[in-house]
Amino acid sequence: RRNSYEMCKETADWLRARTAQCPKTAIICGSGLGGLAEVLDNKTYIPGHQNPILVFGELNGQPCVCMQGRFHYYEGYSVGMVTFPIRVLFLLGVEVLIVTNAAGGLNPSFQVGDIMFIRDHISMFGLGGQNPLRGPNDERFGVRFPCMSDAYEQDLLSLAMESVQELGFVSFTREGVYCQLAGPSYETIAECRVLQALGADAVGMSTIPEVIVARHCGLRILGISLITNKVMMSYNSQEKANHEEVLRISVVRAEALQKLVTCLLGKLGES
Ligand code: HPA
Repeated sequence: RRNSYEMCKETADWLRARTAQCPKTAIICGSGLGGLAEVLDNKTYIPGHQNPILVFGELNGQPCVCMQGRFHYYEGYSVGMVTFPIRVLFLLGVEVLIVTNAAGGLNPSFQVGDIMFIRDHISMFGLGGQNPLRGPNDERFGVRFPCMSDAYEQDLLSLAMESVQELGFVSFTREGVYCQLAGPSYETIAECRVLQALGADAVGMSTIPEVIVARHCGLRILGISLITNKVMMSYNSQEKANHEEVLRISVVRAEALQKLVTCLLGKLGES
């Protein structure tokens, strides 16, 4: 299995041989949000053999590592591969995981450009039997039946909210339930209506398998969705979901997100 203890350990050791930095915080940069890594001080870039690039450095004086890009399920990777970097980060000594993504807004009160802290999630995969923890459990990572009702940590959320207040971002910050579908096709109108009825506020194509595996191994998690578009709820709508729009909005809010994460890291350092 791609995320077995041995394979993750081998990669963690490989990384340790390439950087002396020992980050306590890891940030996964979602679609269009990779620029976050560029603002780190004392950067060390470590390209993976495949996609994600790890950037070690410091943000606001705190050691951290950014993952630019991720393995998406829609690219054909297994959930084991999608969650492999999380276990590697855990073995490197990371304690706090900040996961970001681009998402479509289902909640009618959300605006394009809103930042949504993930309060809870609905895993369409998990409900459908594709849980990343399926299979033999390795106790070196965590328990067989991990709790998920507290996956998104309240203390981290409170610190993030403090940062939002200080930065004056309250008007475009929300909290809500994130729902993940496999992708890569965007949702139909009927699907969006179903997700909304189920209680989801935002929909995307990543993050939940990573969160489940991170919670399993005891990482503290903060999830942030950038609402890059409003999903279609009506057959009369002329809009169409498209990736270019998603990337365009990410660029617009990239700076605010960088400031938010920078401020939060400072607070984490103090706490
Ligand atoms: N749906 C799914 N994933 C997304 C969307 C969306 O509307 N926007 C950004 N990622």
